[in-house]
Parts: sequence; structure tokens; C-alpha cells
Amino acid sequence: MCGIFAYAGSENAVPLLIDGLRSVEYRGYDSAGISVIDESGSIQTVKRGDHKSSLENLAEAVSSGKLSGQVGIGHTRWATHGVVNQKNSHPHSSSDGTVSIAHNGIIENFLELKDELIDSGIEFKSETDSEVLAHLIGNAVESGSSLREAVIGAASRIRGNTAVVAVSAAEPGIAVGLRVGNAGGIVIGKNDSAAVMASDTIALLPYINEVIYLEPGEVVEIERGVIRLFNLEGSVIERESVVTAQNFEAAQKGNHPHFMSKEIAEQPEAIQGALRGRADFAAGTLDIPEITLTRDQIKSIDRIILTGMGTAYNTALYGASVIESLARIPATAQNSSELRYSNPVLNSNTLVIAVTQSGETADTLAAMEHARQAGSPVGVVVEFEGSQATRIADFTLPVRAGQEIGVASTKTMIASMTTLLQLAVSLGQIRGILDADRVKQIVGQLAELPSLVATTLELDGEITPLAERLATFGDLLYLGRGDQVPIALEGALKMKELAYIHPEGNPAGEMKHGMNALLGSDMATIVCAPKNGLYEKMLSNISEVKARGGEVAAIVTEGDDVVERIADHMIQVPDSPEILQPFMTLIPMQILAYRTALALGRDPDKPRNLAKTVTVE
Ligand code: AGP
Repeated sequence: MCGIFAYAGSENAVPLLIDGLRSVEYRGYDSAGISVIDESGSIQTVKRGDHKSSLENLAEAVSSGKLSGQVGIGHTRWATHGVVNQKNSHPHSSSDGTVSIAHNGIIENFLELKDELIDSGIEFKSETDSEVLAHLIGNAVESGSSLREAVIGAASRIRGNTAVVAVSAAEPGIAVGLRVGNAGGIVIGKNDSAAVMASDTIALLPYINEVIYLEPGEVVEIERGVIRLFNLEGSVIERESVVTAQNFEAAQKGNHPHFMSKEIAEQPEAIQGALRGRADFAAGTLDIPEITLTRDQIKSIDRIILTGMGTAYNTALYGASVIESLARIPATAQNSSELRYSNPVLNSNTLVIAVTQSGETADTLAAMEHARQAGSPVGVVVEFEGSQATRIADFTLPVRAGQEIGVASTKTMIASMTTLLQLAVSLGQIRGILDADRVKQIVGQLAELPSLVATTLELDGEITPLAERLATFGDLLYLGRGDQVPIALEGALKMKELAYIHPEGNPAGEMKHGMNALLGSDMATIVCAPKNGLYEKMLSNISEVKARGGEVAAIVTEGDDVVERIADHMIQVPDSPEILQPFMTLIPMQILAYRTALALGRDPDKPRNLAKTVTVE
């Protein structure tokens, strides 16, 4: 959840730390802080705990240039333990101020460790779990350990998933990083004049395009031009760097007011990225070369579980629906945080497919590991190709949407849906359910998808007045049926995370079983009702809402002249083959949430209490 960054090199670390934090700020923006070792060899720490303005206020605080040093660490926080304020902001220091740490993750046994440290006379300055690390490491350094030894010693005391970077005044030329479990990665890179590490590759790209990923249970020491890796026994690890495909420019806002608007606009290209190298439009064929399962293995699959969290879970629901429908394999979606605790029946014939933009979501990684241990083949549909999820999975299906910075997932959802639709076709083909003609037909339809989505994006202007109307409601209901259910759920999720309006997403058939009690003039209903086999049932649902005094906004297929007679607002999406309709209705849902958030004065890129990558359970 939090972002960490460390620099050891020949330049003044302060502006570089601020730039590094800007790149990882989307992981948490409750506070921001840096520690640098100054010319006198002392650690100087500056931090701000001002919610969304923390990093800008920090940048302002160090802009005079008085603070400088060639080694430092930085942190942007997503609060878990302790309220958002300056005192709880990272970095945290040891009692004598000679060690400073920045932490991502949760120390599950921190109360026990804190009591022990308090009993030994240590005074805590914050309410965070992280501060125990500063004292454990500080005590060990004071007793003569090197910073690396002290960090390894601390690793043996803590429980839970953790990533931490640390500096010590006793070794002013280095910074040390540690990864325990899956608390968001640490990526490391170097050039001749510096070495850097961060939670995310994007922060390293101004320096280098070859990176090393720290694995769980590993420690790294960086100094100018040097990277040294160790395991928790202190033995040296050799690892080659890998070239990253990520691109720094692609992760900038450009002319867009927000990352979210840029990423919504990039969806036609995101779909093309997901189709590239898989769908052959000239031949009308489809092949997913990244699937490493043998044909026999694919034929023996008797169940597929798709798993993910938040938007990725909604995408998994879509995936289950399209896989079962096209490949005729029983498929369900399960929330990753529940998967391993629900004692599911898993064996070598159960294929588990995780969906995750970041590839670092703690619950999703845990679900994947659980499935692997149970002997199930595991695949991942993912944006970040070097992420931990890709190292757990047996095969990786990159969605290739391009880096998504906005906290709200948009283009990665549509690219993941495109990937899952192709997976469904591929499985159906291999299992003899779909013949070459049907595959050719679907591939032909997929060829139209980017331009259909581009046309749907033009609805922005029409959606704005509806968004302004929805902004006046405190409660919203989202309804869909069949493959529109995940879209209704996603519409509700987007609206709650960005506009902070309370929405409920439901299968439309469910409304009579409880939701109807809430219908009335103070709740608006958003209905996904494209022209398909369930259209007439949706018309009944709209009428039922209207009969109870509710206001209805319907997302319908272009040319629909029935819904306009009963609904209050209508958004018409391009007519498309039924198989593509969820893509058409998803776009207005995203724009609606974005525009409603703006109408209410929210910051769509930094919704309150959220972070892009959720590395704690
Ligand atoms: C939705 O807009 C959020 N970004 C969130 O629900 C997200 O989809 C979820 O946290 C999962 O993240 P992942 O795709 O990186 O695993």
C-alpha cells in the first residue's frame, strides 16, 4: 500500500527522493517523508502528514535546498496503524536518531514487540507498528551490528508481510532493503553513479531500464553503482537484472487533467495491447501462446475458479461468465480474501486464474499460493509483468494495457476482460466446443472492439449532465443481468470509491428480495439494459423502480425507442454483437463515476482512504 524509495549515489538525494515519491505516491498519500544522511553524517528527517497534500507540502519544505545528502530513503503512507498526522508519518527513527526506516506492510506482532521495547526503556514517538522496526534495527546497530545484520535480525523477530528500507549514520554510504512475504515489491536498479530501490519499477526508470526484483526473504544493500543481495542467513545471492518493458513517459498525465481521464481515453489502445499476438484478424484465428498448459491438461480441467479483489474481482466474475458460456467449463469467481479460508476443493483438474492489475495484491497472492499448494495449476491475468503474481503463477497472461496510475482501475479492467474473452475462446477451441467458423466470427467481432470503444468514449459530453444529477443523491442502485451483472457491480464500485456516494450493485432479479424496500424518490437506479436476450426482463425491472417513485438512468443500445418511454435518463451505447456488450456498458459506468466525482469536488486520482496497490490483508 505504501510507497518506498531509496537512493545511494553521487547526487543530492533530496530532489531525487521527492521525484521517486511522486512516482510511487499512488500507492498511498496519507503522508510523505524523507530521511537523508547529511554532510556531517547525521540523519535528517522531514515529513508531512497532511493527507493528499503531504507530498507537495514536503516538496515545498525541502525546496530551499538547505537539506542535502547523497544517501536517503523516502515514504508515502497509506495508514494502517495510527491516524494520519506528522508523528505517524514515515520515516521513523531509532531513539538516538542514528537509524531511520521506511516501511510498507503490517507487523502483526508489533504490540508484543512494542511492549518488550518499552520495558527495555524505549520511548515510542508514534502509534505505528512500523516504529518497532526502527528500534529493533537501531538497538542492533548500537550493539555493533552492521545495518544489514541488524535488518536481518529484525526480520527474524517480526510476523506478517513487510518491505522496509533503512539507513544508518554509522554506514553513511549505503541503504538496506528487506522483503518478507508479499508486502509489495522492492525493485532495485543501478547505474555508474547511483543505486536506487523502490516499491515500483516506474520510480527507477529515470535511472535505468534493467532491474532486479527482490524476492521474499531477501535483503539488499545498495551503494553508489553497487547492488548486493543476501538471503536471511546473510549469504550472498547472485541475480542478473532483467530489462523492464515499462515506460516512464507512458506513466505521465500528459494533457489530461487526471490520470483517470487519460486512462479511460486509452482504452481502445489497451484493448489492442491485449489482442496483440493473440488474435489474427486476417486469418480469423486465435491463439494464446502464453498458456503453458498442455492440450491434455486443458482437456482434463473440470472446473475453473477465477479470483481477484475489487475491480479485479468484478473482472473475474465477467471471466467466469464468458468462460462457462463459451468453453462450457464450470467456472466461478471467488473473492481472493475468502478463497483460502473457504476450504475450497482444489486439485490438479481445477484451474485457478487470478486477475490483478498490480500483481502485488496481498489477498490475491495468498489465494494463488494456496491454490498452488493444493496442486492446482495457476494462471494470472496481470498488467505488471515483473510482479510477484507472475512468479507464483504457472503461466502469465499479460494484459498490456500500459501502466495505470489512477487508483480507480479502468483500462486494465477492459484489457483484462479482452484477455479473458480470448482465453474463453481458446479453451473452447481446444476442448472442441467452438469450431473454426465460430472462432472466426468472434475474432472478426473482436477486431471491431477498439473502434466501438472509441465511439463509446464520445458519450462523455452526454454523460456529464447525468453525472451532475446523480451527484445530488445519497444512495444509488445499479442493476444488470447475465454478463451485465459484473458491469453493474463495477459501476457501483467506481461510484463509491470516487464520488463517495453509497451505491448498491445487484443482479436485477435480486431487487424484489430486499432492495425494493429502499426504492423511492431519494434513490436513483442505474440500469444496464442493452438489447439482448434479457432486455425485456430489464424493462420490467425499470418499470418496477418507476412504479415506486424511483428515478432511472438506463444504459441502452443505440436506437432503443422503448426505454426512453419509461426511464428518466438514457445513455445509448453503440450497437454491438452481444458478446461485446459488457465492454460497451462499462465505459459509461467509468465516465459516470469520474464526472460525478468531479461534480462533487472529489479528486478522482486520489480517493480518500484508498491506495492503488493493496499489499496488506
Ligand atoms: C478499483 O478501482 C480499485 N483499483 C481496486 O478495487 C482494485 O481493483 C483492487 O484493489 C485489486 O487490485 P489489483 O488489480 O492490483 O490486484
